[in-house]
Amino acid sequence: MNSIVALISALFILLSAAISEAAPPALPKGYSAWKKSERKVVTDKSSLFYGIHYIYADKKAQSGYQAGNKFPEGSRIVVEFFNIKDNPAVDGSKNMIVLMQKDRRQTSSGGWLFAGFGADGKLSSLDPVTTCFGCHQKDAAQKDFVISTKKDFK
Ligand code: HEC
Repeated sequence: MNSIVALISALFILLSAAISEAAPPALPKGYSAWKKSERKVVTDKSSLFYGIHYIYADKKAQSGYQAGNKFPEGSRIVVEFFNIKDNPAVDGSKNMIVLMQKDRRQTSSGGWLFAGFGADGKLSSLDPVTTCFGCHQKDAAQKDFVISTKKDFK
């Protein structure tokens, strides 16, 4: 009896350690080799998206776009943002990177992990639920919370 209790408590400790040590989100390696969107330039300075950006989709996310924005578990989408220089035809310096990764455990943000990173790849302090998901929910609740569509990848 005692050994069963000991075993159960040992399992419990292991399990809670595994949960609390869940690694913070990191940028996927090699995303620049994924399918890349056309170059997008937003010249409206009042927009959050002011600047130049490119969207990258991995294999699973590509199939999700093809299915009309129904994304399988594990799909990953990355966006890289650049400043506009005097000449908008040239990308300025990189200023931000964002990630969405389909993860059914993220129940408070539509089953997606949202994460923002600085140009150096370090996690930023933007709140994934209120800031990121809040806006995506408003704009794309009927599109699996993904705003872009397969048209962006032509
Ligand atoms: C003010 C609204 C808004 C906020 C806040 C916002 N996004 Fe977005 N996001 C957009 C729009 C609009 C697009 C589509 C851009 C395009 O089509 O080129 C987008 C696109 C994306 C994409 C590409 C997939 C898609 O939905 O089209 C990812 C990944 C993404 N955002 C992640 C994030 C993350 C992570 C955060 C928080 C750090 C965030 N976003 C905050 C509006 C927002």
